[in-house]
Amino acid sequence: MSVEGKVAVVTGGGSGIGQAAARLLAANGAKVVVADRNVEAAQAVAGSLVQAIAVRADVSRADDIRDLFQAVDDRFGRLDILVNNAGYGVAGTVVDLDEAEWDRLMSVNVRGMFLCSKHAIPLMFRSGGGSIVNTGSYTAMVAIPSRAAYVASKGAISSLTRAMALDHANQNIRVNCVAPGTIETPWFDPAFANSENPERFRQELSARCPMNRMGRPEEIAEAILWLASDRASFATGSVLTVDGGASIW
Ligand SMILES: NC(=O)c1ccc[n+]([C@@H]2O[C@H](COP(=O)([O-])OP(=O)(O)OC[C@H]3O[C@@H](n4cnc5c(N)ncnc54)[C@H](O)[C@@H]3O)[C@@H](O)[C@H]2O)c1
Repeated sequence: MSVEGKVAVVTGGGSGIGQAAARLLAANGAKVVVADRNVEAAQAVAGSLVQAIAVRADVSRADDIRDLFQAVDDRFGRLDILVNNAGYGVAGTVVDLDEAEWDRLMSVNVRGMFLCSKHAIPLMFRSGGGSIVNTGSYTAMVAIPSRAAYVASKGAISSLTRAMALDHANQNIRVNCVAPGTIETPWFDPAFANSENPERFRQELSARCPMNRMGRPEEIAEAILWLASDRASFATGSVLTVDGGASIW
């Protein structure tokens, strides 16, 4: 898939979609930097891959992100791919959410992408170009109830993708977004654990899309790999839904 020998940073690479993306990029010959605020998780993933390293980094912290890309430069001397994937959700309407919850979520889901891209793009430019893949969500297209901050953050990611794609097209840097539907990752572990009827909860989650199932992280990783690779050489500014059809109804 044309990522052989390329250097890739995957944020939130210790779990779920980020882990699947790190594994698939590595399986296709990329040198992967697994960045996560959970360093044990990042180390477990990187340790199972060839030519991968783990870096502890909280994407909302400017110092961490400066150090992350310095480490990439020191170790590999170049950067070709950034998967801006770290993110989380919080329940609540705008009335329920307090200001600190709103600010914290925006600082991870949106500011984190800003910080990572800010440091990655000059390094990519120096390397002759690159590809950035942002993990958005189908909820940028259709809202889901009681997730106001999360839905807003994913809308911002779609727009930030287009803004960055426009600003850096003439530097041979492509910027795209993958918009997953409901994907079975450890993200949902606490919700399943707290559910009185996990099977019914799964059915409810599955019923969010016409295909009537949850997606697998590997199914999102395939889209990330394609967007990251030279096979997607004419794709920039796009938001690719991989959601079992959740955004069509
Ligand atoms: N699972 C879904 O249904 C779904 C759907 C659409 C979009 N997404 C998006 O996919 C991305 C990954 O979600 P997932 O389902 O794989 O979740 P996950 O909880 O399995 O993994 C998220 C990873 O990100 C890391 N992380 C969280 N905050 C971080 C921070 N501040 N700095 C660095 N790392 C951080 C976590 O430690 C974890 O390893 C998120 O952006 C999420 O919004 C998920």
